[in-house]
Amino acid sequence: MSVTAQPARPAPDHHAQFIELLSASLAQNAFIKLVLAKYVGEEAELQRLIIKPVVVKEQPCLSFVYRYKTRDITKNFPLADGVAAIAELLPTSFKNAHLLALTDEAQLEYSKKNKSSLFKSKPQQLREAPSAEHNREKNRFLDLSRPFLADLGVTDAKQALIPSMSRKWKQINKFIEVFSHALTSSPLQLDRPVRVADFGSGKGYLTFAIHDYLRNTLKAEGEVTGVELREDMVTLCNSAAARLEHPGLVFKCGDVRSVAPSELDVMIALHACDIATDYAIHTGIRSGASIIMCSPCCHKQIRLQIQSPVLLKPML
Ligand SMILES: C[S@@+](CC[C@H](N)C(=O)[O-])C[C@H]1O[C@@H](n2cnc3c(N)ncnc32)[C@H](O)[C@@H]1O
Repeated sequence: MSVTAQPARPAPDHHAQFIELLSASLAQNAFIKLVLAKYVGEEAELQRLIIKPVVVKEQPCLSFVYRYKTRDITKNFPLADGVAAIAELLPTSFKNAHLLALTDEAQLEYSKKNKSSLFKSKPQQLREAPSAEHNREKNRFLDLSRPFLADLGVTDAKQALIPSMSRKWKQINKFIEVFSHALTSSPLQLDRPVRVADFGSGKGYLTFAIHDYLRNTLKAEGEVTGVELREDMVTLCNSAAARLEHPGLVFKCGDVRSVAPSELDVMIALHACDIATDYAIHTGIRSGASIIMCSPCCHKQIRLQIQSPVLLKPML
């Protein structure tokens, strides 16, 4: 009996299969996310690359978020260019790729000697299709297109959120959300100017935000004053307020203890240092403010709304 040698089977091309899965998920609008990990390139601080679908100027694109140790850099590519870039990066720059789609999941791995393995599975539960809208947002109280956000460095020239400012953006929105609830349950009427003081206004994120919310969202008259010790911040904020046409928004240089409007409707002191918050609360009560929003620096945040009876509630 003769034994004929079987021709050696070519090794499966896991790379091509993986790219095919990726392309198919894009073609079927089923692509959720791709994460490239185990970076082996030359950039010391690059950790991973997260790729998601976005729509830019009505064109489907892939958003590449390069995650470094301390920052993120985002670049958007048309679909075909994005897929070609991913194909190039494996395995020369990344040794691990995890693809998540609505109906499939796949993991491509390379050993130190670049031996590939491909694992495929089906998701255990039905996934929701991601929204591919650029700057996908939760229900926000402010719009990313507001000009003051670009001026203060929260958004870029294209009105897209600068990744490193995402915490600040969340904080600004949470602040306006809390304010809007407080306003609804306060006795304040919007048919007359709402007088606001923001003590320790810093770079003016919250001061601009509340002024913009009053004027542009609520169509009310806002007389908003930021009080800040640092002269450079005051100059920066006053010139931005003038340039961006924020009438009724002024910044004054001085100490909470000495620059205090006599009559106020809303008193804000968020993260003002040391005992500045205590002075601000005192001023707020003395000047008859209906709403006092404060959070002592480095302490648990609180919202204090003065009404009858006085309410003291956790803010965040
Ligand atoms: C941590 S920053 C907060 C800025 C802003 N409220 C926010 O939450 O984004 C605190 C600011 O309070 C200012 N500040 C501290 N003590 C002050 C005082 N006694 N009077 C006025 N401003 C003060 C500081 O200069 C600083 O800009």
